[in-house]
Amino acid sequence: MDQIIVTGNGALSGQIPIAGAKNACLTLMPATLLSDEPLTLTNAPRLSDIRTMSTLLQSLGAEVQALQDGQVLAMSSHDLTSTRAEYDIVRKMRASILVLGPLLSRFGHAEVSLPGGCAIGARPVDLHLKALEAMGAKLELRDGYVHATAPSGGLRGGVVEFPFVSVGATENALMAATLAKGTTVLKNAAREPEIVDLAQCLQKMGARIEGEGTSEITIEGVDRLGGATHRVVTDRIELGTYMLAPAICGGEVECLGGRIDLLSAFCEKLDAAGISVEETAAGLKVARKNGRIRAVDVTTEPFPGFPTDLQAQMMALLCTADGTSVLEEKIFENRFMHAPELMRMGAKIDVHGGTATVTGVERLKGAPVMATDLRASVSLILAGLAAEGETVVSRVYHLDRGYEHVVRKLEAVGAKIERVKEQ
Ligand code: EPZ
Repeated sequence: MDQIIVTGNGALSGQIPIAGAKNACLTLMPATLLSDEPLTLTNAPRLSDIRTMSTLLQSLGAEVQALQDGQVLAMSSHDLTSTRAEYDIVRKMRASILVLGPLLSRFGHAEVSLPGGCAIGARPVDLHLKALEAMGAKLELRDGYVHATAPSGGLRGGVVEFPFVSVGATENALMAATLAKGTTVLKNAAREPEIVDLAQCLQKMGARIEGEGTSEITIEGVDRLGGATHRVVTDRIELGTYMLAPAICGGEVECLGGRIDLLSAFCEKLDAAGISVEETAAGLKVARKNGRIRAVDVTTEPFPGFPTDLQAQMMALLCTADGTSVLEEKIFENRFMHAPELMRMGAKIDVHGGTATVTGVERLKGAPVMATDLRASVSLILAGLAAEGETVVSRVYHLDRGYEHVVRKLEAVGAKIERVKEQ
């Protein structure tokens, strides 16, 4: 297994290109199942999760070709051979559940393994299932699989009211509704940029969708969808992660392809902490010139609130703030596993349920630490960039799920970082 070794090396400067969004690509790829015409995605990120989704689609008989060094995904579901998503693939990645809506909507039946537990929370899929039932689907849970059938004549439009915001359930329902008979209204829908990106791609395929980006989305079902070519939106979580590098170490870094509208709540917190964020022709320039950063309180919320996927990275920043910060995690029930690892580096963090109180220290000290999930792993790397001495991060396979070329991107702006085989 690989490790990443980071040595605190002072201020950073230069440019970091931001890739296409993992969480957009993981819902755009299953959209190919809705049509017998080709769907091509450009600006696709090169990540292990994307390869897992490719394997899943290929196991159903779809064609998925990774072109141009993996940044273009040419897909076709013209000759699908199966509507069964096997446990062996689904257990590797929860987003696999996103094939359920498209398969059921186009073929009238599907069997999809339930995803099982996750390090950051129980993460049930009940809202996905309820949404499909509201469109007339019959669902049976048996042998660890969801067995789904549509009424004869296919799914029909309906009103889906989500009791709380779910990104995945909104995506599954949105895709399913595109081929349903009649009108579907999704109420209290997720408003994430990845949902808007999915809706725009589906509209290019011929879907009739209104209200994407708001909490009420209306979909007029059509008989069939065509093909399209779609550019994957910028990864706002990768963007936020790299914006925090100069914030933690000092210096100035321009994140190419960055946009403030993707991260407004996050940018407000950086501003409150004393970090400057400036829009440039090519992206966002982030700088921390002098002095300690200010403590700030953060509460994670659905978009446009502060993203839970940047909570761990923000905690790494606040470990050396001047004062005490309170972080509230409102989306997942077990998403502070990076805290004990940061404490191994000398951080002062008190966790009670969904609240973490971080009392800033002058400087962190390098130590051997363990990655527990995707965002926790990168928060340890960020902390190591500003720590005294060497930090050795183990289990970095978590990182490969959501960050391409971390070592190369950080080295390019002056970080002392390398990837090694574990001894
Ligand atoms: C998406 O997960 C992202 N993953 C997550 O990113 C992200 O943290 C999350 O949205 C929130 O922004 C992908 O897009 C692939 P939810 P998703 O449904 O869709 C509960 C990362 O680091 N819930 O919005 O699974 C659920 O347990 C990952 O890139 C139900 O109870 O998130 C959670 O507490 C991690 N029943 C809350 O809702 C359901 O049927 C929000 O989950 C669905 C969700």
